[in-house]
Formats: sequence, C-alpha cells, structure tokens
Amino acid sequence: MNHVARRRYLTNFDTHRLPHLFTDVLVIGSGVAGLRAALAAAEAGADVLLITKADCQTSSTSWAQGGIAAVLDSADSTAAHAADTLACACELADPARVATLVQAGAAQIAELQDWGARFDMRDGHIAAGREGAHSASRIVHAQGDATGRELSRVLAGQAGKNPRIRIFEHCFAIDILTRDSAAVGAVTWHARHGHQLIWSSATVLASGGVGRIFRETTNPLVSTGDGLAMALRAGARLRDPEMVQFHPTTLYIAGAARALISEAVRGEGGRLVNRAGQRFMARYDERGELASRDIVSRAILSEMRSEGGTHVFLDVRHFPPGRFVERFPNIAELCRDFDIDPQHDLIPVRPSAHYGIGGVVAEADTSTDIAGLFACGEVASAGIHGANRLASNSLLEGLVFGGQAGRSAAACAGPHGSSPRPAPLSHHLPDSPRTALDLDDVRHSLQSVMSRNVGIERSGDRLTETIEIIDFWARYVLDKVFDAPTAWETQNMLTVAQAITLAAATRCESRGVHFRSDHPEPREAWRCHIDIRRAEDQLQVGREPV
Ligand code: SIN
Repeated sequence: MNHVARRRYLTNFDTHRLPHLFTDVLVIGSGVAGLRAALAAAEAGADVLLITKADCQTSSTSWAQGGIAAVLDSADSTAAHAADTLACACELADPARVATLVQAGAAQIAELQDWGARFDMRDGHIAAGREGAHSASRIVHAQGDATGRELSRVLAGQAGKNPRIRIFEHCFAIDILTRDSAAVGAVTWHARHGHQLIWSSATVLASGGVGRIFRETTNPLVSTGDGLAMALRAGARLRDPEMVQFHPTTLYIAGAARALISEAVRGEGGRLVNRAGQRFMARYDERGELASRDIVSRAILSEMRSEGGTHVFLDVRHFPPGRFVERFPNIAELCRDFDIDPQHDLIPVRPSAHYGIGGVVAEADTSTDIAGLFACGEVASAGIHGANRLASNSLLEGLVFGGQAGRSAAACAGPHGSSPRPAPLSHHLPDSPRTALDLDDVRHSLQSVMSRNVGIERSGDRLTETIEIIDFWARYVLDKVFDAPTAWETQNMLTVAQAITLAAATRCESRGVHFRSDHPEPREAWRCHIDIRRAEDQLQVGREPV
C-alpha cells in the first residue's frame, strides 16, 4: 500500500532565526503523567520545563470521574488486581509491568494524601467504589465523581511551588527535535512568543490521547493525538494503535457534546435498559452491567440496532432518595442542565471514544526507540492494558509510570545544567502546488468517518475504504506548512487516524476492544502486537511477539 509522503517536521524552521530556551528535562503535557514526571525529575535534581498546549488543568486527567484503582483493603490483593487487569487485556499485556503497576497503588494514594489530596472517606477509611471487570471494590474517588480534578489540583499545586519546575501554558509542541536520531528538545509555538526552540537533555512525552479523532468522545478538545504523530515523525514505533476503548455510557442529548457518565454509576447499582424498559446486559454477559467495557459497549450497540434507536438508558431510579446526588454531584448537575432528574427520569446514554490504549512503544523505564525520549501515560504503550483497559487503571498508570519517566529522564539528562548546546538544524518544505482543502471540513469529516468505520465494530472492506479516504485528505493536507495550532492538530489527527486504521485493517481477528465483524473471534496467530513506524514515504506495519 502506498501512503502519502510523510515529512519529518510539520513546520519550517532554522535554528539561526528562532529564540532558544534550555532545560535539563522537557515534559510535554500536563495531565497526571506529565505532572508526575515533572515532579520526579525535579526531585532527582533536574531543571524541568513543562509545556502544555492549553492551560495546566485542561487534560483528560481533569475530566476523569471514576477514580484511581488501588488495593487498600486487606480483603483484596494486588494479585487479584493484576489478574483482573490481565484478564481484561486479552493476552496482550506484560505481566511484569502489570505487577509493577498494581503493587505501587497503595503507596501512590498515600503520597497523594501527604500532598493534600482529599479522597472520599467512609468510617475513617478511604471509601473504595466498584467498576466493571474488577473483582473487588478498589476505586478510590474524590468529591464523588471529580477524582481527576482533585488529582490535577494536587499535582499542579506541587509542581507550581517547586522552584525547579517552570510551566509554560498555551505552548504547542509541534515536533520533537532530533540530532543523530536522538531527541534534543522540541520546536514549539507559544501563543504570545510564536515559534521557539526548546533544547533539553531528555524529553518526556506525556501528551495524552486520541479521542478527538472520533466524532463522539468523552475527551477534551486537546486530545488530538499530537504526541503519537510527533513520535512517528521523529522515528519512534507505535504499538497497537487500533486498540481504542469506547466508554459504554456517555450522556446522549442530540446536538450536545457527549459527556461521561462514570462507570462507577453502574458500580453503585445503575442498570442499563433498552427503549422497552428492559434490562439486557444479562443476555450478553453473566457479570451484567459490570462486564468489561468492550462487552457493554457492543451490547449497547446491538440493542440500539435491534430497536433502530440512537441510545439506551441508564436507570438509577431505584437508588435511595438523595443517594445519586450525594455520590455523583457533578453528573447530577450535568443531568439537571438537560432537565433530567435521575431520581425520576431515565438517563439516555450511548458509547463514545474514551481512551487510546495503544501508543508510543515504551520500555519498563519508559524509554522509547529514540535516545533521550521517554513516554508515559495515555500516549505510551507501556504493556499494561493490552487489548482492553481495566477501568480506573489509567490514572494509576500515569502516577506510576509518570514518576518512572521523570526519574529516567533526570538520569539520562545527567548532572544539572549540562543541557545540549543548540545545533544548526533547519527544515524547509517548498510550497505545495496542490489546492488547499478546508481544514475544518477535513477535521469534521475525519471524525465522522472514524466513528462510522473504525469505531466499536469494524470490517475489512470499510477499513480499506477508510484508508483510501484518509490517504486522499492527507495528500492535500500533509503537504503544506501551516502556522496555527488547529492546523497542526488536524495534520496530527490525519497521521494518527491513518495509523489506527492501518493497524485495524491488519489485525484480522477480534480481541478486546478491537472487534471485526468479518473475523469475530480471537486467533492465536494474532496474539501479537502490531507496530507502526514511518519508513521513507510510508507508514510501515509490522508484527511483534508479545
Ligand atoms: C469512568 O469514570 O467511568 C472512567 C474511568 C476510566 O476511564 O478509567
């Protein structure tokens, strides 16, 4: 398959003409992984510059409702948490990495408390809730359904008062700078200062996920896959990008943006019903509403199809009076905005894109294929989630592997102050003779085609058609130099959409969140990873053993 030419940098630049900044460790992204990485690198003695394309609180982390999975109860065990994680992952996760993750849970929660995190308590202990595919109640939450907001508040507060950490908001990372195939910083664009070159001895990519590549998503506007696209252009491998998790329950109000209705609502006893008012999950899985997300999302899709509807409903009318508002104050407020009173009304829901499971290949120490580049959080493929992420494991992953990335980056940077000297680098792409497409239209059309053809259910012919459609847009969009963040985002979205679709077309089986109607079963031959890399003018697809 011949795909559109992919250039090394999205922007033209010349190091002789741009302002330069220097740091030991550059962190790209201000979600849980980026902030935790910055704190760990600073603690290890490095000077840190953290850049984020919006403000520090705008991230998927801040929007997270459900919580942080952690074993705190002696009736539970890290072995059980690991077993649940691995069962969900459908044989594609790395048991050693999963062990690292779950064993760190309690210490991470204790550290956050030391830093001032206020988790919800019951009888003097942290109150742990339940979510799908967990065999125990181990979801730590804050202010009912505002766990991510609390986590962001605490981590950003810690970073803000650390003299070793500088934070630049509204600073867009356009590309990772490389010299002799090693990362040496980033070419960036700042809302006030324009283009800048940031030179670093080590760089941590923690730029989040891909949800906005789909029309319906729980993710904030910033989740446009920039980090994956940057990493591909710089020469890193992506692993299993086809594994995109759809959250079963987002509020469905025609014309309004989709908003998450936490899985914790089902954990508290919320029931899914179809338009006839019948519960249906027991027909699909013996765990009912608490089956894993892939199963619940597909069950909802199947009900919607058989009823010819656009959504199903979440029913919490049986909760004791006042319980829903007390446990889920923000979701209750969201419902109120649309005149839905969960005590008396059904809540209309449908699945939407939630989490990019695949990502930049990261080793146990978070290093990537590129010397000096580390990856953590949703942008990374750290071997934890395999083909399906267990609920509330991602905030924990951000804490554990974000901390690891910070330590690794500080070690790689060496003694404080030894930042690299600027090297003479430049990039110049000649003007394209092709007509410009309307970028807003391309972005919306891409989101629609991805939701339609690369969503919960996929098939070979529609994936092939989608590759051709994206190739066409890419020919007219990736050959040009733009000078605005929304344009760079659209270019990144096209690149990542192509990687997701190529991998989905390649994986001729169904496993976890990747369901192919033309190959509805898992196949032993596909118990492997799919890796994507940039090679000359193509994206190259390969297989790697688990
Ligand atoms: C939720 O609250 O349902 C989201 C939690 C997660 O994605 O892990």
